[in-house]
This record gives sequence, structure tokens and C-alpha cells, in this order.
Amino acid sequence: MAEEFRVTYATLAADPNMHTDYERGIEEARAWLGQRHPFYVNGEAREGDGWHTEVSPIDSDIVLGEFATATAQDVRDAIAASKDYAPAWDALGYEKRAAILDRAAKIIEERRYMMSALMAMEVGKNRLEAVGDVQESADLIRWNTHAMIQSKGFKVPMQPLGEAGDYYDIMRPYGVWGVISPFNFPMALAAGPSSAALAAGNTVVFKPASQGAATGHMLYEAYREAGMPAGAFQMLSGSGGVVGDGIATHPDVQGLTFTGSYEVGMKVYREFASDYPKPVICEMGGKNPTIVTKHADLEKATDGVWRSAFGLQGQKCSANSRVYVERELYDEFVAKLKQKTESLVVGDPLVQDVYLGPVINQAAVETFEEAAEEARRTGEVIAGGEVLTDGDLGRGNFVQPTVVHVPRDSWLWKRELFVPFVAVDAVDSFDEAIELANDTEYGLTAGLFSEDQAEIDRFCSQIEAGVIYINRASGATTGAWPGAQPFGGWKGSGTMGKAAGGPYYVLQYMREQSRTLIE
Ligand code: UN1
Repeated sequence: MAEEFRVTYATLAADPNMHTDYERGIEEARAWLGQRHPFYVNGEAREGDGWHTEVSPIDSDIVLGEFATATAQDVRDAIAASKDYAPAWDALGYEKRAAILDRAAKIIEERRYMMSALMAMEVGKNRLEAVGDVQESADLIRWNTHAMIQSKGFKVPMQPLGEAGDYYDIMRPYGVWGVISPFNFPMALAAGPSSAALAAGNTVVFKPASQGAATGHMLYEAYREAGMPAGAFQMLSGSGGVVGDGIATHPDVQGLTFTGSYEVGMKVYREFASDYPKPVICEMGGKNPTIVTKHADLEKATDGVWRSAFGLQGQKCSANSRVYVERELYDEFVAKLKQKTESLVVGDPLVQDVYLGPVINQAAVETFEEAAEEARRTGEVIAGGEVLTDGDLGRGNFVQPTVVHVPRDSWLWKRELFVPFVAVDAVDSFDEAIELANDTEYGLTAGLFSEDQAEIDRFCSQIEAGVIYINRASGATTGAWPGAQPFGGWKGSGTMGKAAGGPYYVLQYMREQSRTLIE
């Protein structure tokens, strides 16, 4: 295996050896398809009240598997088992917990090609995006364990006052932590929060996305094989209504990480703390702008925009969906972006040179059609705009990467669409661009292309977003990596003001206890 080749979201081309390994991963993943999978309550396999058949968005004839749907009682049982085990997991100590988690990271890395190929079949990621997601999962786990080790479990001596004794401050786990993950980063956005909660000493009840259960099983197996006790990490497949709500409304769940839409996230945020305040880490999407000023390098700007607008078919909360270009450069920018967009290959993402795979489901195709129709009716479709159904594509959910120009009052500038769809407009000044960029309830990511230092400084101080990129051709608004770009949103994009893969992430999973022991 070509172990030395490490894929991140900033990797623009694969090593040829990676493709050989990936092809082998596809074969291994194919052998895994089509089976029945129970979920686990305290290590016990359960079948819930039925089986959900998950098919691939690439081709509805590909059956990922049948996944058991947990009942409300299964959810209660899993939470009870988590609660029972929480003191033992805490007592194990951060070093032993970190050792188990680091072993899981290693297992994930060793199986990266099988896991990424399976993930590609499950959610339609292209090769580099899928391998990146799996690699990021391993890196997120290590980032979180490292935070505990480096800080020695966040134990800090305090000053004696009055009587002699031992005065110190220590961060302690909450107890049971819920993790509800989305389909778009089905491993990274499960491994990241769950490993943080576990490293901190909480036990975890995890619900993968319905279109994400296969990858969820991969993570569950990696944890268990690494030596994770059954009571520390439980995985429940099933519906949002039963499993998601069951976790998010249970009084014994002491903390929660939810990644998903603004609507659901805000509901979870409001409803989670029923009896007393409890931490809820929501990561809730974006309507991420890029500003291209007259001092921009057009090559970098157009590359950064198409990659962030169309990577993973626009289904990233970090996707670039709004572009404001200074009028002097507008026509040239649009012509170049159109040409680059039209040259992108759409198709089966398991195939080496395909950049865009399918969107996740029929509802996403309908959102795309509605958006394209709105653009045709009120403005102009610059590139794309069509659903693709020719030949094999007809069995999946394929759409063209799309660039539009529409009036400023169109909902296309406001609503997060989660499809490969970007709106562009000309602006008369940098100030106007900043004002428009900030005119949204969201505040996740933002990009700037300008070679002018004064503009860069103003962008940094005025833009309202948690993750910002300047002159980044590998992604104008997407592609954050743990330890490189901490990832978290402001305003309606996140609840905590602290970012995943950043220096303060794990701390959110703990509460402070100040201890005074008089001699
Ligand atoms: C998400 O899309 O839900 O920076 C979060 C990026 C990714 C985003 C993950 N790490 O593009």
C-alpha cells in the first residue's frame, strides 16, 4: 500500500498508487454490500422494529444494506447503559481513553480505502473527497486525544488562600453525550464529536444519518476493535423522529452535538435543555460568500470558487453559494468560471476522473430543479441548470454544476440549497461586497480574492464568519482541516463560538470543577 500518500481536502491530485489502492478498496466495499446490520445497545445486537433498505445515490440498484431501525425503547436502553457506564469510563483516566481512541484512528487509517469506497457508494463522494473524509476522521480523533494529553487532562494548580492545602481546577465530563451526524461527512462528523466527547470522559450515544448508516458501522467497528468498551460508545440506526428526537429530548443526555440544517439545529438548541441548562453544540449550515475584488488573481479566484461551489456537489455547509465580483473584473470572471464549470466531469464518482457524483436524494434533485427554474424565470443561467438522466445516470441523482445571475432580492441569495449551485453578481465597491456578504443569518465560512493588503485587512476585521480564506485556489470557502483550519460558525451557523479541530474544541465537552482540599 502507498502509505506515504496522505489525502487532505487541500490535495488537488491523487498519487497514481492511490488509485490502485482505491480500486482494491472498491472491491472490498462491494463484498460488504447488501447485508443486514443490527445496531448495538451495550454491545448487544438488536433489530429494532424493522429494516431500512439504503440504496446508493449513484444507482438505486446498488443496495448498501438493510439497517435495523431502533425503537424509542432501544434509545432509552442505550442511554441507560451509557449512564451506567459513564463513571467507569471517566475513572479510566484520559491517558487510557486516549490510547483506545488512537488505536481506532490507526484502524481507520489502515482501512481507509475500503471505508472511503463504501462511503463513496453511500453518499456519492469523489475519490479525493472520500479518502479525505476518512483521513480527517483519524486526524480529528488524534487532535482530540492530543488536547487531553497535552493539557494533562486540563488539571491546573490554583493558589492556596488562607489555610494550607491543595487548590486546583479540573475539567470534568458531563456524563452521557449524544452525537447526531449528517450524511455529507458521514465519518468525520461522527468521529470528530464522538472522539472529543469520549476523550473528555463522556460516554456517547451516536445516531448516524439515515443515508450514512454503512459508514456509521465502519466507525463503530473501528472503535470496538480498538478496545472501546460496549458501554462507552453505542450506535443506533433509525429515523430522526424516533432516534434523533429520543436522544435530543432525554433528560439523562447531558450534552449534545448536532450537525445539520439551521431549522433542525435551532429546534434542537431550543428544546434540548428542558430542566436546566445543558451544552448543545450545533453546526448548522451556511450561505457562504466569496468576494473577488479588482485586485484579484482571476485564475486563483475562479479555481477557488468552482471547487468550493461544486465539491461534494455543493453539499457542504461550507459550500460557496454567493460570489460578489467587482465590476471591472466581472465579465472576465464569469467567462472563466463558466468555462471551468462546463469542463467538470459529472458521473459515477467511483470512476477516477469524475469530479461530481450524484446529489444525495430525490428531494435534493427537486431543490435543484426549483432553483434552476427560479434562475431561468428571474435571471440568467450562466452554466449548467439541467438534471442529467442519460444512460446510467438515470438510475442516480445527477445534476449539472450550475452558475446563475439573479436579482438581489431572489431567494437564491438567501436559502441554503445544498446542491451544486452558485449565484454571482457584480458590485461597485469593496464596501458593498462586504455589506452583501454579511447580509445573512449565517456566518460559517467566507473567501476573499485580492492581492491588496489593505483589502485583506479590512476583510479580516469586517467579515462575519468563523472560517475565512484569502486567495485559496484549493477552495474559496471549503476544505477545513483539523489543526490547520479550525471549523466553526458564527451567527446562525453555530452555537458555541468554538471550532472543531481547534485549540478549544475538547473543552466544550467538559465542565469545570474547582477543588479545595485543606490539609
Ligand atoms: C460540513 O460541511 O458539514 O471545511 C462541515 C469543509 C469541511 C466542512 C465540514 N470540513 O469544507
